[in-house]
Amino acid sequence: LRHRQPIIAIDGPAGAGKSTVTRQIAEALGLLYLDTGAMYRAVTWLVLQSGIEIDDQPAIAEIVSQCQIELIPDGEQPRTVINSQDVTEAIRSLEVTANVSAIASQGAVRQALVKKQQAFGRQGGIVAEGRDIGTTVFPDAELKIFLTASVQERAKRRLLELHAKGQTDITQEQLEQDIAQRDHLDSNRAISPLRKAVDAVEIQTDNLTIDDVIQRAVSLYRETIINK
Ligand code: DC
Repeated sequence: LRHRQPIIAIDGPAGAGKSTVTRQIAEALGLLYLDTGAMYRAVTWLVLQSGIEIDDQPAIAEIVSQCQIELIPDGEQPRTVINSQDVTEAIRSLEVTANVSAIASQGAVRQALVKKQQAFGRQGGIVAEGRDIGTTVFPDAELKIFLTASVQERAKRRLLELHAKGQTDITQEQLEQDIAQRDHLDSNRAISPLRKAVDAVEIQTDNLTIDDVIQRAVSLYRETIINK
């Protein structure tokens, strides 16, 4: 007998399409969606908001251990709430994005958030996206996918997103630099760096549509979980 419902882990660098893909897989398969990046962003927002220095690790550890994070399903875009404040939009700001790697590299922060993520997934039935889901958060996930795309492709996608939001004051080159820098920080931090789990299936998405990726993921799910 299975001890819990299945878990799908989706990891990969920023801008590889994880959020869109993860959301749609959750919908297609009737699973809950866990966006762990939103949790690191919410904590970063809280730290910036409270005026604590980004490298004041003891103060940050304290604030993180006491905060309440809720991820509330709400159609396409789940709401992110920290200490009763809805930060769904605020956590996507350039300021939060610029500071989140520094917060996500702190051991106490990761320890506290991984615990919350594991509690969220205790019963399974979820698809979780992040950087360390397959390696650290849910190493026993039934299906692990590592989504990648070239830096150029990821910058191109991000630029289109920003333009769609009316933000036109940033160039493709700037975005490529930001993405490369964030990749470097996320892949080289001491604790839970971004890396592909040995048993993850890698999908390189440069020449794939979102639908291609969803189909691939759904058939992998059927093969690995239903046919077992
Ligand atoms: O996926 P995202 O861009 O929302 O993630 C925001 C930041 O949080 C990113 O710099 C990497 C970090 N992160 C992490 O370290 N571990 C996770 N499981 C998820 C995100």
